[in-house]
Amino acid sequence: MTPNNRIALSSDHSAIQLRRAIADHIEAQGWVVSDIGPMTPESTHYPEHGAAAARLVASGDCHLGIILCGTGQGIMMAANKVKGIRCGVCGDTFSARMIREHNDANILSIGARVVGEGLALEIVDAFLKARFEGGRHATRVDMISALEE
Ligand code: RB5
Repeated sequence: MTPNNRIALSSDHSAIQLRRAIADHIEAQGWVVSDIGPMTPESTHYPEHGAAAARLVASGDCHLGIILCGTGQGIMMAANKVKGIRCGVCGDTFSARMIREHNDANILSIGARVVGEGLALEIVDAFLKARFEGGRHATRVDMISALEE
């Protein structure tokens, strides 16, 4: 069974500082963070970090994931290649809430060069507090999943 309080967290080199701020922020709320790096600032490859976080979520080792790169876009594209992952990039709190309520997103992506730390933490809170509404939205999410077959 998925540990429902464990969050996979990863980034590329461009987002290490914001990733650490997010880790501190959500750990203070009681979430258990699987921070899979990177820990040092050398240039690295966002597809590897997006895939690593996505695999932790897809396997059930983590309930949700939060991933970051400069724009949030590249790492989101990589994560969405892993079967079972629904990841969206958010730069506002409304979208962060809606990708869970309507799209049952299991990973949030943020652009560390796009949003400041204060807004990023509010985006994270909106994502983590929201719940999937099911109903007509479940039909549509099932249609997304069917595209993986
Ligand atoms: C790294 O320079 C940058 O390309 C990466 O962080 C990200 O923005 C890609 O989508």
